[in-house]
Formats: sequence, C-alpha cells, structure tokens
Amino acid sequence: MQVEINVNGKARKAEVEDRTLLVYFLRDTLQLTGTHVGCDTSSCGACTVHLDGVAVKSCTLLAAQADGCSVTTIEGMAKDGEMHPLQEGFRECHGLQCGYCTPGMIMTAADLLKRTPKPSETEIRFALEGNICRCTGYHNIVKAIQWAAENTAAPMLADSHLWTNDVVVEKVVETE
Ligand code: FES
Ligand code: FES
Repeated sequence: MQVEINVNGKARKAEVEDRTLLVYFLRDTLQLTGTHVGCDTSSCGACTVHLDGVAVKSCTLLAAQADGCSVTTIEGMAKDGEMHPLQEGFRECHGLQCGYCTPGMIMTAADLLKRTPKPSETEIRFALEGNICRCTGYHNIVKAIQWAAENTAAPMLADSHLWTNDVVVEKVVETE
C-alpha cells in the first residue's frame, strides 16, 4: 500500500507492506536511523517519535496508521545546524553513556516540555516512565531535561520549531 507521511517537515510518499511498522518505515525506507529499536514490544521507548505533536512509540504503530500525519524524529530536532535545547542539555549534563536510549528520551522530554515548560523533578520522572536506560541511573537524564527547561524560552520547544527542518533523505521509495 502507499502511504504519505510528513516527516520532519517534508512530505514522504512510499510503498510499504501493510504490516510495516512505523519505526521500520523511518529506519529502513527513509534511512532515519536515529530512531532506535530496543525491544520491539513497546517497553523501552527507544523508538519514540512525535506523531502529530504527541510522543508515541513507533514500534507500536503501523506506517499505515501514520498515513496523512506529521512525524518528527530526532533528526528533525536540530534547527539551522544548532542543536535543540534538549540535545544541548544532554551534552551539558552528561545525560547519556552508550546513547542508545537518548533519541527516545529526548523525544519524550520534548513532548513533556511542550505541555509543561517548567516541570518538577517528579513530573520529569513520571514522563520518562516508558523510557528505559540501562546505563545512566537516570539522574543525569533528569538534570539534562531540567537544564533545557531552565535555559530555553518555552516557545522554542513548540511544534512549529521542531517541524521546520529540512532533512535530506537520499533513498526514498517514491511511487510517482
Ligand atoms: S523498540 Fe519500541 S518501545 Fe522498545
Ligand atoms: S545511555 Fe545507554 S541505554 Fe541510556
């Protein structure tokens, strides 16, 4: 079947199998491999992206379910060559070790900061309950999100910021 999905501000049209998960559409068809697969069973959160502005686990959705929707991945977070404040926060606060969970953590945190620009530590930890990190013990991840909340004007984290990027994709299966 054919799907058309706006990914990081660009319309993408492709042929996919009915059973294709959104995460594999992003990784295999669009080659946006920043979205990771950790469990494939909706437990770890490594595959988190935004679907119409809401954080979702892309291993739990079919690409067909995203047809006609907008998706933002970690590749769409930086703007004009500058890292997103959350990416800066993870760097500043050493919020990662192996980095496997990091894209999902950042996408979940971006959703939180859109809804709650100045979250408490409890609110941050609650928001991250669906994202697993096997390395850090979470403390520096929480600090990274607090850093982003403190060092950024809230409008910077709105969807319009996230979706204005023009990600260059070399290999797209176009049908027309
Ligand atoms: S790969 Fe999707 S939640 Fe783990
Ligand atoms: S930094 Fe390794 S899983 Fe989180």
